[in-house]
Amino acid sequence: MSRTPDEPSTSRDASTVSDVLVIGGGIIGLVTAWRAAQRGFATAVVDPEPGGGAAQVAAGMLAAVTELHYGEQTLLALNLASARRYPDFAAELAEATGRDLGYRRCGTLAVALDADDRAELRELHALQQRSGLESEWLSGRECRRLEPMLAPGVRGGLRVDGDHQIDPRRLAAALVTACERAGVVFHRMWAERLTVVRERACGVRTADGTELAAGQVVLAAGSLSGRLAGVPEDVLPPVRPVKGQVLRLTVPERYAPFLSRTVRAVVRGGAIYLVPRENGELVVGATSEELGWDTTVTAGGVYELLRDAHELVPGITELPLTETRAGLRPGSPDNAPLFGATGLDGLLLATGHYRNGVLLTPVTGDIMAHVLTTGELPEEARPFTPRRFTAAALTEQPV
Ligand code: GLY
Repeated sequence: MSRTPDEPSTSRDASTVSDVLVIGGGIIGLVTAWRAAQRGFATAVVDPEPGGGAAQVAAGMLAAVTELHYGEQTLLALNLASARRYPDFAAELAEATGRDLGYRRCGTLAVALDADDRAELRELHALQQRSGLESEWLSGRECRRLEPMLAPGVRGGLRVDGDHQIDPRRLAAALVTACERAGVVFHRMWAERLTVVRERACGVRTADGTELAAGQVVLAAGSLSGRLAGVPEDVLPPVRPVKGQVLRLTVPERYAPFLSRTVRAVVRGGAIYLVPRENGELVVGATSEELGWDTTVTAGGVYELLRDAHELVPGITELPLTETRAGLRPGSPDNAPLFGATGLDGLLLATGHYRNGVLLTPVTGDIMAHVLTTGELPEEARPFTPRRFTAAALTEQPV
């Protein structure tokens, strides 16, 4: 069931009552709130630190093509749909906020360092071609001509001019501003418990005991989405934290341009990427660790990232290391997000974006605005209904 923006919310205190209450003020919650407010819904976000979350750690690659994985073709269609929206989305958000998002249409080069890496990259190229994607195979020499800082041993690579980048911290800050300007109310506190009355979600109780009421509640709390008290067991999204350690270095003026585009590689089976920003920041990521809620930066994690990055771009050891941090990707059982209605009336999901939260931000905003307005998922989002993980759906699947 959905409400239209024209229906009055209720006559209670307007600061604690909304049409749409979004739990989670990361980029997914924020874009949902922004789009909902633009559609005329009285919208609120509950989060102790809006604009925080995984976007504070993420590198911001918009890598639908170079991050393609076997078995993720359905997700690929959604990733591509969001990538296509990025130019207009970034322009609209920059215009609405007057903020620079660090959106760079710089392309990506994925390279191989040894014969095994090369074979793996050839497989990726074949999969990209079967999927109708644009990527060009380059020799090692051609790779180094594009990126002279690459190691002399680079054996070949894939040039993907359509995989760009954005600065996720600037994206998050801009979305906070956009929400504020669109009239979104921020409750800067933890949502402690979902309020359910007569089998309908109708708000949350916060950590300080405030009751926030809403016509529709959107759970968009990233890796925390599976932990909100009060959500019935069979409705809780199957989202788990997947730790990623990320480094930030600075390229001094005298070394610029160190890299002109995102460079990725598989080094002895481990994925590594280097994302150069126009402001001199160089982001190096990322580990992928199933360690629950642990966000410790470890010597081993930093060592492995620097070791692999050094093998790829030896000059990296000259750069100041300015930050080490770990974040939690919201992983789902099929690596794809969950959108829309749950088995509990009034509760919607926008979560489980795993490795693609930044890339999927524009399409998520559009999907959630559609669901909130019509009660239905748009065609492109139907494969991502949370109902695919219900016990009934899982037992129906062929073995
Ligand atoms: N998409 C990059 C990562 O998840 O590390």
